[in-house]
Amino acid sequence: MEILDGKKTSAQVREELRREVEQIVSAGHRPPHLVAILVGDNGASITYVNAKVKACQEIGFRSSLIKYPAEVSQGELLDKIDELNNDPTVDGFIVQLPLPVHIDEKLVTESIRPEKDVDGFHPVNMGRLAMGQGVLLPATPAGIVELLRRYDIATSGKRAVVVGRSNIVGIPVSLLLAGKYPTGNCTVTICHSRTENLAEITRQADILVAAIGSPHFIKGDMVKQGAVVIDVGITRQPDASKKSGFALLGDVDYEQVAPKCSYITPVPGGVGPMTIAMLMKNTLTAMKMYAPHSDK
Ligand code: GUN
Repeated sequence: MEILDGKKTSAQVREELRREVEQIVSAGHRPPHLVAILVGDNGASITYVNAKVKACQEIGFRSSLIKYPAEVSQGELLDKIDELNNDPTVDGFIVQLPLPVHIDEKLVTESIRPEKDVDGFHPVNMGRLAMGQGVLLPATPAGIVELLRRYDIATSGKRAVVVGRSNIVGIPVSLLLAGKYPTGNCTVTICHSRTENLAEITRQADILVAAIGSPHFIKGDMVKQGAVVIDVGITRQPDASKKSGFALLGDVDYEQVAPKCSYITPVPGGVGPMTIAMLMKNTLTAMKMYAPHSDK
């Protein structure tokens, strides 16, 4: 069994990006610019957004963080999105989810110009992904296939089972694995809360992606010997022994499952770190595609 080390791989991706930005800047162009919008004071969202800003600083990107109180009106948020859509100094921006209930997440997502949608959540970017023409790919799914690629794990013709059908992970990772992509061409089954005989299906997986949001849901008897297991779960559980005050629990019962795997992602240190690296990669891609000759 080999561990898919997301921390190490993410550091490699970020180092490659840092070098590329260095070249761009030494050629007289401005660095890529990512803007993050944070609404309210959701603890996990604050942690994620801060990590994104820190990654920008390390790589040499410009970053801006725009914070609103939870009571901000939908209109004010949409005005800011409009401003960023039309700001030529901004290559990409994200609105951290979830949003307070009085704000329509779908409307917000659809208001972001697809060319600046570095989360890859806009229906145009999802549609391109479904058609095998994805460019700005959702970061977590892109991080998963990047891990497979960098560990030389063959996907073509393999049976992949994705448990979970969220718009952020389950659906887009299924499209990436099934599509005509370098790490695609799998035969994919999507399972969810209504799936009957789930274990019978997960046991057929050469590649099993668990993106359910239910701690330790995948047990040893649900996994085939030799499978590649990708754990997307990051449930926070209060834990006084941790510096942060909580432990992160995956969707996979690691103790039971790991001995059966050829490869497995740990939690933390697997898919999570890859997500931020791929957001950075998208921002650079957006700049190269849509603002290729930006001067300082
Ligand atoms: N909330 C959880 N994951 C994400 C993400 O990848 N992007 C944004 N914008 N919000 C999230």
